[in-house]
Amino acid sequence: MAKLDGKVALITGAAMGLGKGIAEAYARHGAKLCLVDLSPKVAETASELEKAFQTEVIGIAADVTDKSAMREAVAKTVATFGRLDVVCANAGVCQLAPFEEMTDEMRDFHIDVNIKGVWNTCQSAIPQMLSQGGGAIVIASSVTGDLVADPGEAAYATTKAALVGLTKCLAVEYANRNIRVNCSQLGYARTPMVEKMATESNPENPEAAIDDIARNVPLGRLAKPIEVGELFAFLGSDESSYITGAQIVIDGAATLPETTSMGTN
Ligand SMILES: NC(=O)c1ccc[n+]([C@@H]2O[C@H](COP(=O)([O-])OP(=O)(O)OC[C@H]3O[C@@H](n4cnc5c(N)ncnc54)[C@H](O)[C@@H]3O)[C@@H](O)[C@H]2O)c1
Repeated sequence: MAKLDGKVALITGAAMGLGKGIAEAYARHGAKLCLVDLSPKVAETASELEKAFQTEVIGIAADVTDKSAMREAVAKTVATFGRLDVVCANAGVCQLAPFEEMTDEMRDFHIDVNIKGVWNTCQSAIPQMLSQGGGAIVIASSVTGDLVADPGEAAYATTKAALVGLTKCLAVEYANRNIRVNCSQLGYARTPMVEKMATESNPENPEAAIDDIARNVPLGRLAKPIEVGELFAFLGSDESSYITGAQIVIDGAATLPETTSMGTN
């Protein structure tokens, strides 16, 4: 029996990038899926995964900033599959700008999608989980904000750090009702978001920006979306039944080195 057999998971931001990697891992481990994304491409991703993994997958085009749309997505999931066991609150955005040039619109865009979107996703799903006797939530935070930051990331870093606080509070609040809540703190994975950031950082040669990231990671490369998906699958499965309120770094040790010059290597 696969570790997510019988589970139903809703994954936001699942049309591409990490969300698609998370969805692949969940499908591979036997879960039935509801993929939610702003992009209409979500329907294509849903049918691709359904064929590849012989599981049931529905795709819903919805905006996580719209709470009623998220409530409808949960209702559709329950109407289709009869339950909802896991939520992966993954949808997020990142735009770089020098702090003194960052507009209020850019700041609010990050707050709306990265904080309020995760808030809406959790708040829409929790009543269903409570009615079923429990569930698991996995939130995509980041090493950015809580542990490290680069120039230009003020809005993104602020919102990703806030998600650590939300994770801890929800974990404590629902522990006695059998809902576990954890967050991932990813370094870098190669996704459309990171390719866009590389272009913003080095418009002349975005590949050089990606190579520079890899050079500074002790494992020597960026994460693959499926590797992040496997962490989400573990945190959504009963194998992680004693883990809640945790912030789990998955970064190839990128945040570990004290210097890039000292030592025997
Ligand atoms: N890629 C990385 O290196 C990295 C590192 C740390 C954390 N993260 C986090 O992981 C998550 C996914 O990142 P990614 O790299 O796959 O990004 P991405 O931009 O490649 O993909 C994000 C997906 O979310 C969807 N989305 C965006 N806004 C939405 C909204 N309002 N409602 C519904 N869907 C929406 C997009 O359409 C897209 O399909 C984000 O929360 C990001 O902050 C990514």
